[in-house]
Amino acid sequence: MTEPVLLAADRTLDADWWRQACVYQIYPRSFADSDGNGIGDLAGVTSRMGYLADLGVDAIWLSPFYPSALADGGYDVADYRDVAPELGTLADFEAMVEAAHAAAIKVIVDIVPNHTSNLHPWFQEALAAEPGSPARDRYIFRDGTGADGAEPPSDWISHFGGRAWTRLPDGQWYCHLFAPEQPDLNWDNREVRDDFLHTLRFWADRGVDGYRVDVAHALAKDLSEPLRSKTTVLPDVLDGTDPLFDRNEVHDIYAEWREVFNSYDPPRTAVAEAFAPSAARRALYARPTGLGQAFNFDLLQADFDAAAYRTVVTDNLDQALLAGSSSTWVLSNHDVVRHSSRYGLPVGADYAEWLISDGREPVLDEVTGLRRARAATLFMLALPGSAYLYQGEELGLHEVADLPAAALQDPIWLRTGNILKGRDGCRVPLPWSSDGDSYGFGSGAGWLPQPAGFAPLAVSAQLADPGSTLSLYRRALRLRRELRVDEALEWVATGSPDMLHFARPGGWHCVTNFGTEPVPLPAGQVAVASGPVGDGMLPGETTAWLTR
Ligand code: GLC
Repeated sequence: MTEPVLLAADRTLDADWWRQACVYQIYPRSFADSDGNGIGDLAGVTSRMGYLADLGVDAIWLSPFYPSALADGGYDVADYRDVAPELGTLADFEAMVEAAHAAAIKVIVDIVPNHTSNLHPWFQEALAAEPGSPARDRYIFRDGTGADGAEPPSDWISHFGGRAWTRLPDGQWYCHLFAPEQPDLNWDNREVRDDFLHTLRFWADRGVDGYRVDVAHALAKDLSEPLRSKTTVLPDVLDGTDPLFDRNEVHDIYAEWREVFNSYDPPRTAVAEAFAPSAARRALYARPTGLGQAFNFDLLQADFDAAAYRTVVTDNLDQALLAGSSSTWVLSNHDVVRHSSRYGLPVGADYAEWLISDGREPVLDEVTGLRRARAATLFMLALPGSAYLYQGEELGLHEVADLPAAALQDPIWLRTGNILKGRDGCRVPLPWSSDGDSYGFGSGAGWLPQPAGFAPLAVSAQLADPGSTLSLYRRALRLRRELRVDEALEWVATGSPDMLHFARPGGWHCVTNFGTEPVPLPAGQVAVASGPVGDGMLPGETTAWLTR
């Protein structure tokens, strides 16, 4: 009998793969369009698997690709166990997973359990059913208050602006913490719980390795009468008794999910998008008995500043230890202004105002922004824990701040009465080549207009340039795989308030100069740097990895 050959894909057997993985977030509608309908699709992802493998990511996380009327960019799911027809079929999904696994890339899908789409059959059934019926009990329906029930059942507000209740012609109101097209589910209902266990299994059975859990802190709500007042969109108390967010009971739900995860070999993983009021509360989501990992958005919210970065890292490594998990690191995602643009705007700039001015006020310093973003990314990639990248950041794309009003699709734009432009500027289709109707995204124009400035940033243009941002990411991710070691980090004194230096086991060092003046480079061989390094000096706003 011959020995089985150990293929790269056999790494899927490692149950701890996620602890220091580099996860690449794909916003499917904007990644690659294989059929020319202007919308990115699953076959497009499959066709670019070689690109992802060459980039060196360990996993891809796909934002929702399920049937959806796109009231919230796909986070309004009409069927949790199917693929949106404009994005492909279940067979396309299976082909994508197969291609990913063959390239030793894991697949993470987005689960949106707080709310369905209003087009979900359950909500349609609820609309047709009587008040008080089992169909309505899957959601949060209530009679109104005031004369004739004309006032909403409570003062709860929507994350997207306005109140969290919409009234039906029969007089009842239903709750939606996001858009009216996203009715909240009632997680006290056993049928709701069972259906999501079914969904988790459905995708795990199709080879999915993990889940990203949307709004994980909002599922359990205090629905006892009278409904309690709540006029913020974040948990306000530390003991798990807020009416809507981060309630203690939410962890009973994830304990059940964990049983499903652990029934697979290797166990499926999950990462919570959980806005918790303290480090200790966030740690509850990240426990091995819960979802296993939780996002922290601290780096994403930090200024490009040595002291701020150091505090974020120290706090989060402590928290991860507390949770028995590894830390997560994020600089960009589909909900925020890209970090190359954030770092090119003055400290304290109001991004919403900047967007509403079409990116004119304050003025964006694109060069500084990208230089800092590259330094920040290289810093992040050297940290123990898992790094989450957002598609296009490896190209150094800036936020597209001047999308015309007519093109905007984010519900935030309409719901706020055109006060907030929303998140479309980071969701613009990717440029793959410097020419063509949509810079190689598809054969025709993409669903959001791409700026002319995308041409020189296209993949094809950057591949050939060793100094490009794409080349930097590729080199860093390749090295990161080699250098991935024990999850330890030791700060090294730098004598400068603008400089951070940490060592990882095995003689691996990361040095960042957050200031603008060059500083002497510590001893060691430069393995990769975010900008030109020479003469033993580290230029301003630059990170270098050193080996000793
Ligand atoms: C999460 C998603 C965001 C979505 C919201 C409602 O925060 O990241 O894009 O709008 O949940 O599902």
